[in-house]
Amino acid sequence: MLLKNDDGKVARDYLQNRNIKSQTQKTFGLGYAPNGWDNFLNHAKENKIDLEKAKLLGLIDSKENGNFYDKFRGRIIYPIFSPNGRVIAFGGRVFQGEENIAKYLNSPESSIYLKRKSLYGLFHSKDEIRKLNKAILVEGYMDLIALYQNGIKNVVASSGTSLTDDQVRLLSRYTKNIVVIFDADTAGMKAALRSIEILLKQDFEVSVLSLPEGEDPDSFINEFGKTHFEEVLKTAKNFLEFQTSQYEAEGMFENPNTEAEAIRELVKSASFVNDELKRGLLLRSISRKFKLREKLLESELQKYLNENRKTENRQLIRKSKTGKPTSKVNNESDKRLVLIEKEIVQLLFEGKEEIIGNIFDTIMPEDFTNNSLKKLAQIVYDSYIEGTFNTAALIEKIDDEKLKDFVLTFSLGDYQISAKWDKHSNEGKVEKDPVKYTKDTLKKYQLIKIEEQIKANTVKIQNLGDDPEVMNLMKANDELRKEKNSIV
Ligand code: UTP
Ligand code: MN
Repeated sequence: MLLKNDDGKVARDYLQNRNIKSQTQKTFGLGYAPNGWDNFLNHAKENKIDLEKAKLLGLIDSKENGNFYDKFRGRIIYPIFSPNGRVIAFGGRVFQGEENIAKYLNSPESSIYLKRKSLYGLFHSKDEIRKLNKAILVEGYMDLIALYQNGIKNVVASSGTSLTDDQVRLLSRYTKNIVVIFDADTAGMKAALRSIEILLKQDFEVSVLSLPEGEDPDSFINEFGKTHFEEVLKTAKNFLEFQTSQYEAEGMFENPNTEAEAIRELVKSASFVNDELKRGLLLRSISRKFKLREKLLESELQKYLNENRKTENRQLIRKSKTGKPTSKVNNESDKRLVLIEKEIVQLLFEGKEEIIGNIFDTIMPEDFTNNSLKKLAQIVYDSYIEGTFNTAALIEKIDDEKLKDFVLTFSLGDYQISAKWDKHSNEGKVEKDPVKYTKDTLKKYQLIKIEEQIKANTVKIQNLGDDPEVMNLMKANDELRKEKNSIV
């Protein structure tokens, strides 16, 4: 619709106005959902797309009488990609002067899209991030696209919220250095501080750049160009300096009460740094700047360290209560899981980029329950990140002889596991599609994980009696059942 259709002209004009070249539109798969209630719906029907699934993914919805209608209407569409390049959700922006509706409509969470685990732009930027060993964090879809188009490609976008632990973990596979750029308003500032905390806790080197009031990276680079943007980028400050100048601007150092408050906030930020030496140096720089005895700051720091530990413990307890990962429920599901993990590792050693990508979109090395399989998955993952993934090269990287033998037993010969695909064929048809086989295997894996979690929650519910936590667990199970049904 965006590239060719007559109706798409309004959208093309809009993007041209925003200075997004058509090559960039293609790179990011931008599209246009025209006005009207059934443009996508009709397309889906013609292509025999399962409408219930389309509904689960938030592309359509149904009225009380059961009739379906399009959710994305009159919007520029920004596909959201998984880190390995599959489209898993959409953002849609209004652009025709609509008032009183949210600027962006985003896909709901689904079995393929977990907001907290996805970072907009990472698929496009990961190579550059690794190469430069640095990422730039911006807020908006448009910010990312504009920087990328101008040749600044090591960017990810948080999509307007503060970062989550999972997003930071994902990013940390490519770099531990980040420049956070955010809007100068107070909401932007709050989100930035929260993001900084999460980044520091995962050992990132964090610097911060605030743009002049009223500018975002998109407007800035379009106005001043790449060179100037890069110069400004160099002035990004270490997070503590940034926070200090922020408090300065707010006038907090003008009276002793607010000054104490500000200094406490600075010490608090330093407390999120795990490296003891670095933390000490930060504390020293605070003490020098404000001419305070280091001892005084140290006892303040200790308070925050204790507080952090408590919060962490609480989070751990909460996690274990809702039965998050791998609480062993019983041997039977354990065995099933290891069997399927084994199949997944076999698929990884097929050495095919698409297969490996699909797998790591669903299951990361650290998710494997069996330690040997986890090790093997990690080897494939590391090579994949480096861009090598043929079977021989992968086997080369295994330094544990036993594991190597294990892999050799299933990877020898031209057919590898293709014999297995035959077994999975219906009605005696021989099925030779490894990608489909991978998808089916991953679905089975997800189902087992969900079932395991439901069981774990159920056991807890039975043991808790009338603890208020029961309600949460029951709700969690409802959600899990929904998720389970959405995997078909
Ligand atoms: P912005 O309002 O800064 O959007 O919100 P933007 O990306 O700069 O878009 P333009 O320049 O107005 O076209 C930042 C991000 O917050 C999320 C989106 O991910 C957006 O990119 N957001 C914002 C929403 O999800 N919903 C909204 O209604 C607004
Ligand atoms: Mn913008």
